[in-house]
Amino acid sequence: MKIEPAKSVKGVLSVPPDKSITHRALILAALSETESTLYNLLRCLDTERTYDILRILGTEFAGDWKKMKVFPKPFVEPIEPLFCGNSGTTTRLMSGVLASYKMFTVLYGDDSLSKRPMGRVIEPLEIMGARFMARRNNYLPMAIKGNRLSGISYKTPVASAQVKSAILLAGLKADGKTIVIEPRKSRDHTERMLKNLGVPVHEEGTRVVLNPSSFRGFQIEIPGDISSASFFVVLGAIHPNARITVNDVGLNPTRIGLLEVMKLMGANVEWKITREDLEPIGRIEVETSPNLKGIIVPKELIPSMIDELPLVALLGAFAEGETIVRNAEELRKKESDRISVLVGNFRKIGVKIEEYNDGFKITGKQRIKGGKVDPKGDHRIAMLFSIAGVVSEEGIEVQNHGCVEVSFPNFYELLEKVIE
Ligand code: S3P
Repeated sequence: MKIEPAKSVKGVLSVPPDKSITHRALILAALSETESTLYNLLRCLDTERTYDILRILGTEFAGDWKKMKVFPKPFVEPIEPLFCGNSGTTTRLMSGVLASYKMFTVLYGDDSLSKRPMGRVIEPLEIMGARFMARRNNYLPMAIKGNRLSGISYKTPVASAQVKSAILLAGLKADGKTIVIEPRKSRDHTERMLKNLGVPVHEEGTRVVLNPSSFRGFQIEIPGDISSASFFVVLGAIHPNARITVNDVGLNPTRIGLLEVMKLMGANVEWKITREDLEPIGRIEVETSPNLKGIIVPKELIPSMIDELPLVALLGAFAEGETIVRNAEELRKKESDRISVLVGNFRKIGVKIEEYNDGFKITGKQRIKGGKVDPKGDHRIAMLFSIAGVVSEEGIEVQNHGCVEVSFPNFYELLEKVIE
């Protein structure tokens, strides 16, 4: 797919529903005592993996992804291994769930997922009482022998919502309370949803305490995914003739790090919460931002923009001075080694960037010549370089762009709508 430079970027859009919340809605509906109705779920490759696994475990679904009814059934031990595809969220959240059922299950995934560390969920879930066997104790395929669990107090070495959620989901059926303490607060969708279901969960800073509880089915409408919106928001700031509005997007404070960084860089971006339900939801408006300046991204903001950090490199290329991201070694453990894939591909399109073990430095006011990039099967890298193509001089060819289906199936359709 070759993305050509465009004269203008204009439009009012809605982005697909939030991926994190969709996974959680499906899982919690399957774990509840009565039926649920879920509105506006994200249908993409990742969330289909969670749905398929729950279906194999016995959960019944009716309707489509715009309005889905979920009928929870007692889980049955599957005889087939469970395929998690490219989805870390499916793997880690379902590990927490499966750890608390007296069943034997095997999880496996694609090449990328099979390189991502699972020791981070195995360790706490084993302390709680489940048994795991994983390739080199850390990688898929992974077998789980669930058990009756005991609550724990656990300090996670990294801020990770997937790890935190795995422990909290396991804690739902454990004996005694479960406490998770993170080095910094990661996204809090699981806590918000559980609280809303009446599960006793409370937070003090980066510490979450959960008391085991059952809960009834629920209704939820999923807002737009700010991580998907981010590609268009950044494009709106760096393109010389742009104005973009994104409506109905989730503005959870644990997810808006990129917007805060863009403000620090001097971008013409505003966001406004228009309604607050389970999650704050609102609008983002962005315009051409000719006066971007380079910054050192504050490390407290890293967890709230973990999936958006690669986009900071693109902003940095258009800013005055240097932009630096450090303390982001987690980027090497995502769908690809995002630091190395980002740096390698930027160099291929004529942009100078320096690689650190835990981040990158980019000098501003560079021209993006263009060329051919290989996103290495990573959906977010493919979308980033597609956006870069729009502001390049000669266009960018993104190889194997089909990986955008992992999170944002209509990405190219929406891009087509806003560029001219
Ligand atoms: C997610 C959490 C993040 C994020 C991922 C989705 C979630 O991962 O990168 O895309 O839904 O919990 P970590 O929490 O492991 O950093």
